[in-house]
Amino acid sequence: MESGDEAVEAFEVYYSQSIPPFDRFSEAMQQALSKTLEEVNGKLGKEETTRLRVKAMHNFLLALKGDRSAYLQSVKQAMSSCRKCPELSGPPVLSMGAPGALIMLVGEAPGEEEQKQGKPFIGRAGKLLSDMVKSAGIPQSLIYIANTCRCRPPGNRVPKKGEVKNCFPWLVAEIDCVSPMVIVPLGTTAAKVFLGPKAGTMKDIHGRMFVIGAQVIMPTYHPAAVLRSAKGAEEGLKDDLEKLSKLTDILRE
Ligand code: URA
Repeated sequence: MESGDEAVEAFEVYYSQSIPPFDRFSEAMQQALSKTLEEVNGKLGKEETTRLRVKAMHNFLLALKGDRSAYLQSVKQAMSSCRKCPELSGPPVLSMGAPGALIMLVGEAPGEEEQKQGKPFIGRAGKLLSDMVKSAGIPQSLIYIANTCRCRPPGNRVPKKGEVKNCFPWLVAEIDCVSPMVIVPLGTTAAKVFLGPKAGTMKDIHGRMFVIGAQVIMPTYHPAAVLRSAKGAEEGLKDDLEKLSKLTDILRE
């Protein structure tokens, strides 16, 4: 089994545990949720049902979990002392954003500037991304931003599967704390973490919405692909962020 497969398997296990089956909720909660879902299923088409399911589960999980800020802080504290990867010197670059953010952007790994300043997406690619997010009309306050690997790989190489795997529990814990409605993997390294090693090329999967558990996974191009003028990247990222903006408006209704 490839380590990418294990990551996906772990992700599935995470979903089955973190979005617990109904019998783990109290009876009253179960009834309230099933009633809502029954009503929407009866009345609406598939897309609308999905939208409401994602929204209902997000609100439900936030209510169920209460304030996760302290938990997120403790996850970040534990993460900051992680030195599991022999080729990466760290220290881990921690994510930014608040629990309850609607959107989680997941990049690949920090670059030189990010590693120096200890903040994700603040170099050239990050600046481009935040400009494009702004132009698409998405408020920064709705975003939580993380990476699949938290330490800069030497020479900016792509993180190895084992490195992504080592970092995976941090990502899972953050998804658990934040409970985003939409997760946006930026680039193929991140897309594979969510959709498996055979996720496909960005050209084929960008802007598509995969519903896993209570979350929508919408992969798109990494801003670094736009900087190196990769074919279709700029237009693709722009279109997808506009789509994300519309989706966010709908989900916030
Ligand atoms: N590229 C990434 O994937 N992540 C960062 O934090 C910066 C650049």
